[in-house]
Amino acid sequence: MAKAGVIGLDIGTTRVRAAEVVFGGGGRGVNAQPTLVRYGEAPLPPGAVRDGEVADQATVSGTIRQLWAEARFPSKDVNIGVGNQRVVVRELDLPWMPPSQVRASLPFQVQELLPMSTDEAVLDYYATGETDGPNGRMLQGMLVAATRDTVNANVMAVETAGLRPQLVDLNPFALMRSVVRGDLAQRTVGVVDIGARVTQVIISAHGAPQFVRMLPSGGQNVTEAVAGALQVSGVDAENIKREVGVGFAVAPELMPAAEAVNSVVRPLIEAIRNTFVYYAGNHPGAGIDVVVLTGGGSHLPGLGQYLSSASRLAVTIGDPLSTLKVAKSAHPERLTAQSSLLALPLGLAFGLAA
Ligand SMILES: Nc1ncnc2c1ncn2[C@@H]1O[C@H](COP(=O)(O)OP(=O)(O)OP(=O)(O)O)[C@@H](O)[C@H]1O
Ligand SMILES: [Mg+2]
Repeated sequence: MAKAGVIGLDIGTTRVRAAEVVFGGGGRGVNAQPTLVRYGEAPLPPGAVRDGEVADQATVSGTIRQLWAEARFPSKDVNIGVGNQRVVVRELDLPWMPPSQVRASLPFQVQELLPMSTDEAVLDYYATGETDGPNGRMLQGMLVAATRDTVNANVMAVETAGLRPQLVDLNPFALMRSVVRGDLAQRTVGVVDIGARVTQVIISAHGAPQFVRMLPSGGQNVTEAVAGALQVSGVDAENIKREVGVGFAVAPELMPAAEAVNSVVRPLIEAIRNTFVYYAGNHPGAGIDVVVLTGGGSHLPGLGQYLSSASRLAVTIGDPLSTLKVAKSAHPERLTAQSSLLALPLGLAFGLAA
C-alpha cells in the first residue's frame, strides 16, 4: 500500500487549497525530492475569509468538507497556517536556555513587545542562531505572536469540517519551505506572496527564516480600485485589471483604469521595497540576492518588472513544483500554469508537527 502523505491546507481569501505530499528517503531536506500525490482546491464566496482570517465558519467548513469528498484525500490529518496583520512576528534575542524551556518562558519575556495581552496570544519562538557576548550566551530568533481568536477561527473551521489539525504554522514559514529549496537554499532570498488581501514577505538566508512582514493589501484591493474608479462590476474590473497591468503604455480610454491599478500597486511595491531596504540596513553586506514571487496577485502583468526596477533586484515567479516530483494522481497537466499558487499548501505539508 502507498505510504500516506502529509496534507497542507491553505485557507485563502478566494480559495481553499490542499496538497498531499509523500516524503521519501530524503525526508524534508532542501535537496530531497518528495512527491506531490494529490491536489485539490475549491472557491470561497466573498466574505467567508476576511483579511486572512476565517469570518464565516459554516461556509468555510462546508467548502472544505466538499473538497475532501471530491478530491478524496485519504486522511483527515492536516497542517494549517495563520498569517495576517494580527500575527506579530519580530526579531527577538533571549538569554540562552534549553529549547524545551523557551515556549514556557515567553509570556514573561515579551509582554511589552506585544499589542495584545499575553493571555490573548498564542506565542512561539523560532531560534535562528546563538551568540556569546558581553551579556552572556544568547539565543537569536523570531517571536511569533498570534491572537488566540485568529488561530481558533481557523482551527474551528477545519475541525467543523471533520478534519484534525496537526500543526498550526505561520504561513510565511510554510511559503519559505516550499520555495527556498535547491540552489535558493544557499542564498539570501526575499519570498513575496501577493494574495487577494494579504501580502506576506519573508526573507531567508541559507535556508533559515530571518525576517517576516505582513502587508494588508493584495490583488483584490487592485480589482476594487478599478471597479470603484470605473463604476464597473467586480468581474469586469478583474478583466480590465489583467488587461492594463502595471507600468505599460495604455490607450487614453484605459488611463483611469491604469491609474486605479497604480494607486494600489505603487504603495504595495513601495512597502515591499522598504522591507528589503530595512533588512539590508540591518544586515550589512548580506542583503537580498533574489526575489521570488508567489500568489495570484503577483501574476498581474508588469508587476514583477516593477518590483525589480524599484528594488534593483532580480525578480522571478516561484515554481515550487520544480523541486518536487508530481505523481499522475495529482494531475500535473492542470497544475503547471499557475504553480506559484501551490506554494502555501505545499509548504504547509512540509511542516513538522511539534
Ligand atoms: N493573471 C492574473 N493577473 C492579475 N491578477 C491575478 C491573476 N491571477 C490571479 N490574480 C489575482 O490574484 C488574487 C488571488 O490570489 P491568491 O489566490 O493567491 O489569493 P488567496 O490565497 O485567495 O488570498 P490571500 O492569500 O490574500 O488570503 C486575486 O485578487 C486575483 O485578481
Ligand atoms: Mg493566499
